[in-house]
Amino acid sequence: MSVGALGWGILGFGWVARDYAAPAIAASGGRLAAVADPDPQARQAGAALGARTYEGIAALLADPGVDAIYVATPNHLHRAGVEAAAAAGKPVLCEKPMAATLADAEAMASAIRAAAIPYGTAFDQRHHPAHAAMRTAIAAGAIGTVTAIRIVYACWVDAGFATDNWRADPMRAGGGAMMDLAPHGLDLVDFLAGGPLMEVAAMTQRRVQPYAVDDGAILIGRTAGGVLAQLHIAYNCPEGLPRRRLEVVGSTGQLLAENTMGQVAGGEVWHLDGATGARRPLPVPDAQLSPFTRQMTAFAQHLRTPDITFELARDLHTMRLLHRAYGGTAA
Ligand SMILES: NC(=O)c1ccc[n+]([C@@H]2O[C@H](COP(=O)([O-])OP(=O)(O)OC[C@H]3O[C@@H](n4cnc5c(N)ncnc54)[C@H](O)[C@@H]3O)[C@@H](O)[C@H]2O)c1
Repeated sequence: MSVGALGWGILGFGWVARDYAAPAIAASGGRLAAVADPDPQARQAGAALGARTYEGIAALLADPGVDAIYVATPNHLHRAGVEAAAAAGKPVLCEKPMAATLADAEAMASAIRAAAIPYGTAFDQRHHPAHAAMRTAIAAGAIGTVTAIRIVYACWVDAGFATDNWRADPMRAGGGAMMDLAPHGLDLVDFLAGGPLMEVAAMTQRRVQPYAVDDGAILIGRTAGGVLAQLHIAYNCPEGLPRRRLEVVGSTGQLLAENTMGQVAGGEVWHLDGATGARRPLPVPDAQLSPFTRQMTAFAQHLRTPDITFELARDLHTMRLLHRAYGGTAA
């Protein structure tokens, strides 16, 4: 690893990499060393930020200024990116979902373990300052015994959402709204309930959007400790409706977050008193700090001192839950 700021190489310099990860790398004290993307416009955007640019992963991995790789390609290409990084011995932060299929995720896990590289899936929501404050409050007993977590995470993704809308392609996305949005909720449940769902069931719909993947889903699940979870996720919810809501219900109170879920800081969090129903704002330290910046800082810290902020086994379990939610029985 080079001395000084962590040098990042980004594989796939599209929307999330350009708009959120690259600024977060700079804000976290890291360095955007290089990007690799077959799209000339994406490479141009990387070059404009001072990054060296390549068409593919091999050159990115050979760049001596690249200490760690951030994989932000469409889902079906996560596996190839992570396996190549593992073969080169480079740490990887890979966007969610871990892969387009459980089989790909299992193969990635084998490669990561064989190479013994640090790995994290980029669940930025666990780095959102509001969600971190909720976790702290729960641990301090602010709502008693957690009984249930209810999440709404919805948006509008129509067939023309992007020039190349790979999200609507079952092969490249691995699923639809549930594959894209449910991983955030599943990981957040683990983060807030203090353990993952062990059982999960889901119903999906193809109701509004004219494409071949689900445009909505409701999932239910239960943790080993008995916390119930319910997630409503959607690609068919118009902008004017409430679309981002996170409730943690407990035996003495409730936490309610509105408009926190997503790529940016902000939103509102309240504590509701179980006896009186009185609602007061929950203080959120560093409320305006980008979840992506906190995530990049945490990954750099994880490379210095490994901790459970990033954990392969947990991410693989989340992939198994998704697989099961889609009706798969292999896990
Ligand atoms: N954590 C979040 O909040 C969040 C938000 C958006 C997207 N994502 C995830 O990030 C990933 C990318 O999503 P996006 O919205 O940025 O997609 P995008 O389509 O905007 O960008 C993908 C980029 O990958 C490039 N690409 C395609 N094939 C490639 C290859 N072989 N090698 C290198 N690059 C290649 C494309 O040219 C494009 O620039 C997805 O896995 C998605 O689920 C996460």
